[in-house]
Amino acid sequence: MSLLNVSNLDVEYQTKEGPIKAVSDVSFSIEENERFGLVGESGCGKSTIAKSILRLLPDNGSITGGEITLDGVDLVGMDEKALNEIRWAEISFISQSAMNALDPVYSIGHQIVEAIRTHEDTSEAAAKERAADLVEMVGLERARVDSYPHQLSGGMRQRAMIAMALALQPGLIIADEPTTALDVITQDHILEEIDTLLKTLGSSLFIITHDISVVAETCDKVGVMYGGELVETGPIEKVFVEPEHPYTLGLLNAFPTIEGGQEELITMPGQPPDLHDPPTGCRFYERCPYREPRCAEEAPPLTERGDGQRAACFVSEEEPIRDRYQDVVDKEEVWLKL
Ligand SMILES: Nc1ncnc2c1ncn2[C@@H]1O[C@H](COP(=O)(O)OP(=O)(O)O)[C@@H](O)[C@H]1O
Ligand code: SF4
Ligand SMILES: [Mg+2]
Repeated sequence: MSLLNVSNLDVEYQTKEGPIKAVSDVSFSIEENERFGLVGESGCGKSTIAKSILRLLPDNGSITGGEITLDGVDLVGMDEKALNEIRWAEISFISQSAMNALDPVYSIGHQIVEAIRTHEDTSEAAAKERAADLVEMVGLERARVDSYPHQLSGGMRQRAMIAMALALQPGLIIADEPTTALDVITQDHILEEIDTLLKTLGSSLFIITHDISVVAETCDKVGVMYGGELVETGPIEKVFVEPEHPYTLGLLNAFPTIEGGQEELITMPGQPPDLHDPPTGCRFYERCPYREPRCAEEAPPLTERGDGQRAACFVSEEEPIRDRYQDVVDKEEVWLKL
């Protein structure tokens, strides 16, 4: 049994302009000790998936279909009391902005102590000692337990939030763009720390980012989202080496370091589909240089490609898309060369 199992998840937001299908029929799982990265452009539904798992969707958002289980226990129908018991203890959250997640009124240490004592019968002194250990583990001075969020730099606050997320050694940590707001060097340090801590605790990670190099560095498996759908998923060494979806290929070619730069840099101009009224066929059709007439008529299902890789593309089911890459990119004016 997987630690986290998401199957056929549908999520909608109600808006004045009508409902938005932010997530459509998304399925994936995360095993114990595994790191899963979810990538895709802004607005493709990544955070909505995280909020659905954590049951933190805003009032206008709702899960309209599918299942989410943690250790076999249903999260979708779970009541608030049970949810509060598993939050922090079994599943914790690192968000993009520590400023929103941390309470400005209390010191870092106080917030960690509260999190620990809500779930465990521990003395104030013991919890405070543990808070200081945690703060040290994420690379801050122990004395920082007494600091308030506004007394810390952005990087330090992010570290404090990681300390809090780890406080109860949860089996699953969800991190939504945990380093996006930081400079590259701090970003690298924090990712390294997350890596070391996960190894120490044996926790699993679900990390969301628009930066595939972050996934390449930290994860075992990846999911690629486009327009509310999961278009490709599988082990990193499969998906990033032999992508089966043109969108994944496009993402990879926009990041030459992973591929050693042997291919031309391309960008994928154009807009993702309108989620108020998504197209009938493949959602990537408008931006896909491999497109064929059938792609506009029918939506390609996510199919097995071997070794746990799955992709939703008619063309790559028949031939490896990389083989035709040069041809296609030269012929179709859809992707731009840099
Ligand atoms: N509270 C909300 N109300 C209405 N639409 C929303 C809300 N939050 C997100 N959306 C829409 O849902 C889609 C997915 O958003 P999101 O999950 O935040 O994407 P990502 O995290 O990949 O950038 C987007 O089209 C976004 O505009
Ligand atoms: S199904 Fe067609 S349009 Fe969609 S990604 Fe594959 S080739 Fe492109
Ligand atoms: Mg997001």
